[in-house]
Order: sequence, then C-alpha cells, then structure tokens
Amino acid sequence: MKTIDDLGELHGRRVLVRSDLNVPLDGQRITDDGRVRASVPTISRLRARGARVVVTAHLGRPKGSPEPALSLAPVAARLASLLETAVPLAADTAGQSARQTVAALTDGDVAMLENVRFNVGETSKDDHERGEFADALATLADAFVSDGFGVLHRKQASVYDVAQRLPHAAGDLVLAEVEVLRQLTREPMRPYVVVLGGSKVSDKLGVIESLMDKADTLLIGGGMMFTFLAAQGHDVGSSQLETEQVPAVRNYLSTAADHDVRIVLPSDVVVAPSMTADARANVVPVTAMPADQMGLDIGPHSAKHFADVIAGAATVFWNGPMGVFELPPFAAGTKAVAQALANMSGLSVVGGGDSAAAVRTLGFDDDSFAHISTGGGASLEYLEGKTLPGLAVLDD
Ligand code: 3PG
Repeated sequence: MKTIDDLGELHGRRVLVRSDLNVPLDGQRITDDGRVRASVPTISRLRARGARVVVTAHLGRPKGSPEPALSLAPVAARLASLLETAVPLAADTAGQSARQTVAALTDGDVAMLENVRFNVGETSKDDHERGEFADALATLADAFVSDGFGVLHRKQASVYDVAQRLPHAAGDLVLAEVEVLRQLTREPMRPYVVVLGGSKVSDKLGVIESLMDKADTLLIGGGMMFTFLAAQGHDVGSSQLETEQVPAVRNYLSTAADHDVRIVLPSDVVVAPSMTADARANVVPVTAMPADQMGLDIGPHSAKHFADVIAGAATVFWNGPMGVFELPPFAAGTKAVAQALANMSGLSVVGGGDSAAAVRTLGFDDDSFAHISTGGGASLEYLEGKTLPGLAVLDD
C-alpha cells in the first residue's frame, strides 16, 4: 500500500483527502470530536509539505440531496480550530462552489467540501453514476489520500472510485488503524478477550462467527445480551430481543466448546420499567427478570467478573457499550469495562463510534488505551476477514 511519501513532490499540488468526520452532533454541537482530532495529523503533514488540501467527508446518512441539519459546517469550524487556520467550506460537494474554493487555495491551505452524501452519486449502487461523481471529485485534485478508516468498508465514490482516478496513497490514520487490526487478526497475544456490546446482535453475527476461531473468551453485554440470554432459556422481560436471531445465537453457545472459546454472559442485570434517567432501577439475577421491566445494563456482579477476565488478558478488543451509558443509572457496566481496559498492561483496543464516544463521555483519556479505533463497522468487518473496498483499491 502506498503512503504519502510515495506520492512524490506535493508542493503546490492539490490533494483530495477523504476523512471520516462522521461525528455525533447535538444540534450544531459536536459531542465527540475524536474523529476530527484523528484526522489532523495527515492533514497537517500534507500542509507542511506545501500541498493544497481539499477535505471531503460525510455526515450522517442524507439521501443524495442537501439537508441543512447535516451540513459539515460545525465540523469545518472544529477542524479550523484544531489546525489553527481557516478552513473554508464549499457550499456544494464538487460543483461550482467547490471549484472556486479549491481555486482560491494557496500552498499549505485547507478547504472542505460539503457533505459528500449530498450528492446522489456518492452512495449509488450504479457504477456509472458513482463514477460520474468520482470524475467530478477527481478534477478538483492532483492526488488522493484515503484517510477515512471508518468508511473504508463502503464502496462509495469518494472512498473507492476516486482512488481509481488519481495517484493515491493511504493516510497515516488508515495505516495506524490497519496495523493494530492486523495484530488482532494475525497473532494476538493470549489470552485474547473480546468484549461485545451494543444494541443489535444481528450487526455482530459475522464477527462472532469469525472470532469463534480466534478469541479465547467472548464477554457479551449491551442490548445484544438479551438474545443470548433468551437463547439460554431465560425470560428477558421487555428487554430488547431479536427473536429471529435466537437459533444462530443458540448455535454459537452450543458449539463454543468445540471451538475452544468461552462465551461469558452476565449473571445479573440492571432493570427498569423504562429507559429514562429517573426510572427506578434494580439489580436482578438473569434468572429472575420481571416480565414488565427491561434490562438496560449488566449488573455489578457481572461487571466485576468481566473486569477480572479483562485483567487477566494480554489482548482485548472491545466493541459496543455494556448498557445505556448515556443515562447515569445504566452507565456502570460500560464504565467498569472501560476502567478494566484502562488498567490492563497488554494491548487494549477500543473499536467503534459508540464505544469510543462512551469512553470519552465517561471521562477517560484517549491515552488510557493502546488504541481507540475511529471505525465501528469498518473495524468489525476487518476483524471478520472481509475485504474492505476502500482498502483493497489502495493496493492497485
Ligand atoms: C461510521 O460512522 O461507522 C462511518 O462513518 C460510516 O458511516 P455509515 O455507516 O453511515 O456508512
């Protein structure tokens, strides 16, 4: 895979950088700017080499036309303050405003294009439609740097097709992310413990399947734990349950021993009548969940047990919160897991948008972990052994 150094002289050249700046927003306020901060080193390096940097990125999932609430304006402002330079934002993705904005750049300057998903060509399944948009993006630059690790699993114009049209290289963030994930898939130091949470088990089946042959222990929490508990025959009250996934999950539980993997489920959960900050929360064993209550976090006994398992691990990958960490009564499980990762001395990798946001919201420093990935779906697909189109195209 080519790196920025392989692109040759960059002074005065226009470099299109695809970053993943898909940050959580509360109105216009960025609630976790981790992805913006992670994008800075590559942009700064290009600036230092005299390039004219044009950043393209997406925000949310607009349907191919402008949606003011999903403008990249707050992100451009945040990037400008981190870079301590002006970052003008074009009013369109690759049209007249983009052309004018790029033409106004001088060496070392940075500009940003508007949310790339405002153009229908970005996410089109039609190669021709995507290609036309990629052509328009390519006319704005002399070289392409792919640095949006979190979006590499998408075969989209600004991720995939544009790399076929310009001299291209992987940015520093992509190289760093791939290096860590390689360690997890090749020869992880053992014991290798994977902590999986988050709401939907259906998003995780692929990665569970592949981890059955790689990990030593899987710790299961979050909303997805209830499908596992139901597969074990427990009544999970009004908790989130994906009934159609129960057979697949039951199969994992019954074949785990053949794969030499231990699947550990919580023994207690925090339940409440509703998912609200003032709900009356109780801890119950998983064998006694009230029919009219929902589980919203792993219980304290389970949190302690998970933390003990993590303490004995040499490698840990964690994806997905253990509970509804945004609400204080249901944050303790996620906090305990985050603390256990922060305390361990081996390789601790926090994967994914939600888990990364969780550790920062709960007050942990990025430096407490060996690596916080910027990619949610992308890191899971990498661990699953899938080919990421945005990565494969960089090999050409
Ligand atoms: C993410 O948030 O995981 C990436 O930015 C990709 O976003 P997407 O799932 O909307 O393609």
